[in-house]
Amino acid sequence: MRNSYTFLASSLLIAIFLLLIPGDFCVKIIGGNQVTPHSRPYMVLLKGENICAGALIEKNWVLTAAHCVLNRTSQVILGAHSITKNEPEKQIMFVKKQYPYPCFDQDTHEGDLKLLQLTKKAKINKNVSTLRLPKKGDDVKPGTMCQVAGWGKIHNNSPQSDTLREVNITVINRRICNDQKHYDYHPVIGLNMICAGSLKGGKDSCNGDSGSPLICEGTYRGITAFGLPGKCGDPRGPGIYTLLSQKYLNWINKTMKGQFR
Ligand SMILES: *[C@@H]1O[C@H](CO)[C@@H](O)[C@H](O)[C@H]1NC(C)=O
Ligand SMILES: *[C@@H]1O[C@H](CO)[C@@H](O)[C@H](O)[C@H]1NC(C)=O
Ligand SMILES: *[C@@H]1O[C@H](CO)[C@@H](O)[C@H](O)[C@H]1NC(C)=O
Ligand SMILES: *[C@@H]1O[C@H](CO)[C@@H](O)[C@H](O)[C@H]1NC(C)=O
Repeated sequence: MRNSYTFLASSLLIAIFLLLIPGDFCVKIIGGNQVTPHSRPYMVLLKGENICAGALIEKNWVLTAAHCVLNRTSQVILGAHSITKNEPEKQIMFVKKQYPYPCFDQDTHEGDLKLLQLTKKAKINKNVSTLRLPKKGDDVKPGTMCQVAGWGKIHNNSPQSDTLREVNITVINRRICNDQKHYDYHPVIGLNMICAGSLKGGKDSCNGDSGSPLICEGTYRGITAFGLPGKCGDPRGPGIYTLLSQKYLNWINKTMKGQFR
């Protein structure tokens, strides 16, 4: 008799415990705040097969993720705060040519970056301006505080955010990111990637934030690439960003120069 009560009581406790855990994973970009409209003038909204983001790096060049699917009808919107509203700050243009990094690998996620040459040059003003690329492709030390903004989901099962949001995240050691409690080398988080989030979870980028710039201590350092599918904000799968390493910066420079002639 006593034993079965104990069994029932402990089963109930376990059930309650299991019900509570997933709530913690899906805290509210996840865990961030809306930004002051037009305060991130380099942010580019990309309306392709899905919503993506990018950074304006020259008047007619955007840097985004290679996995963002776009074509000639995809709108490239500068100066946006809301996805749906008509905003006088918006400059709408299209993609003239796409330059995905030639060695992008969809399986390993290596080289997830892409340059977009635009059909028009942006008019630079308070609401639209370029983000400077780093001078050198330095690595970012674990513990460094970074910001990432985007129009992505604020919960795993919510739609896009209509307005631009931003979250503070911390760079996590690759050794931790690759361990059994995290990616467990599926895939390998390599030297050309940055792992960042919160070890407790709840702070992350999510679907729709792909391609958006990762800014660490005021410097553009990465591009939002991927996470654990359907598990944004889960402490087991921090966000992974393409590091603007020296080889990628050299390729970006070379590719843009080749087109100026
Ligand atoms: C371009 O992409 C849109 C979806 O974003 C799709 O509906 C359309 O068919 C595509 N057009 C071409 C020419 O591939
Ligand atoms: C930014 O947008 C606002 C609203 O349209 C406009 O009044 C302002 O002139 C813009 N800033 C610049 C520098 O063009
Ligand atoms: C990010 O951190 C800065 C400085 O620590 C703070 O002022 C800001 O409110 C934080 N933003 C968010 C979205 O938490
Ligand atoms: C890219 O080219 C510019 C000038 O053409 C140069 O100043 C800059 O240092 C180069 N950046 C890298 C990362 O090679």
